[in-house]
Amino acid sequence: MATSKEYIKTIQKKFNDSLKKIKTESELEQARVTFLGRNGEIAQLMAQLKTLPVEEKKVIGPLLNKLKIRSQNVYENKQKELHDAILDRKIQQQKLFDVTAYKYETTRGSIHVYTHLIEKLEDVFISMGYDIADGPEIETDYYNFSALNIPPDHPARDIQDTFWLYQPNRLLRTHTSPVQIRTMETKGVPLAIFAPGRVYRNEETDASHDFLFMQAEGLLIDKNISMGNLLATARTFLQAIFEKDDLSIRVRPGYFPFVEPGVEIDASCPFCSHGCSTCKQTGWIELMGSGLVHPNVLKTSGIDPTIYSGFAFGFGIERIAMIKYDINDIRLFHSSKLSFLDQF
Ligand code: DAH
Repeated sequence: MATSKEYIKTIQKKFNDSLKKIKTESELEQARVTFLGRNGEIAQLMAQLKTLPVEEKKVIGPLLNKLKIRSQNVYENKQKELHDAILDRKIQQQKLFDVTAYKYETTRGSIHVYTHLIEKLEDVFISMGYDIADGPEIETDYYNFSALNIPPDHPARDIQDTFWLYQPNRLLRTHTSPVQIRTMETKGVPLAIFAPGRVYRNEETDASHDFLFMQAEGLLIDKNISMGNLLATARTFLQAIFEKDDLSIRVRPGYFPFVEPGVEIDASCPFCSHGCSTCKQTGWIELMGSGLVHPNVLKTSGIDPTIYSGFAFGFGIERIAMIKYDINDIRLFHSSKLSFLDQF
């Protein structure tokens, strides 16, 4: 019969033996459910107790109680034993952990070529006494166009080139030149600023065009500023950026509504003396637009053009980077390609 003394002993032995073999907490839980659980073997014996005659109940009842208490104790001891063993293993592992061990194949982040080049440019201009300036990427018609002497029918306002926003009169700036107006308004004159930043153009992309790119703007206003100051400044910073003391510049006429006269500045090719693929066999590289600030622009910003004059210039940061580092596709700058980014 299931509730005999002998049977109770066998159950106890079976439980004790099975616990001895257990190595994990999940195995222990399994054993607990089988023996001590609500429908486990001991519970089933307890249920059968009710069916026994009174005399037998008196003998078997206490034995079953003992079985239950002992099994519970054995279970708890085993639980503690397992718990301690796990803790021991963890401590052991921590002792073995060598914080000085060399980890192979670690990948290191690198700064973006933008950051690299902009910091270099900023250093050069700061060394020439310029302040670094900034402006919003969401601009108004006034700062991006009107205040820069760009009349309403100018092609630069063409819807093809400008990302207009849904808010009336708001656009993504198409160049960094609006920073000229903003700094003239807030800083007054004399003034020398260098302003790198993102600009946007609503146009098809290809290897040399992107709808989002970086420009840098320079503006210097003081008394008696002439084309000579502009050319000396341009040559000095281009020599520094291309790390070439004998780099020379040349000037061609150029039209920009906010400068008069307006010029395009080319640099002699930093890589050759008589023509190569970078300079397309011409020996010269087109780099920036510039000129003497138009009197209308000064007037609009509250500066008297009969007392002050100045020069301004603007260029594409990617263009400089592409020449300097031999990069053949402007879209790489925003591609997130590690094989490209890793190199800087
Ligand atoms: N803002 C012009 C552009 O995006 C570049 C430029 C030309 C800036 C002449 C100037 C400048 O400051 O004087 O094409």
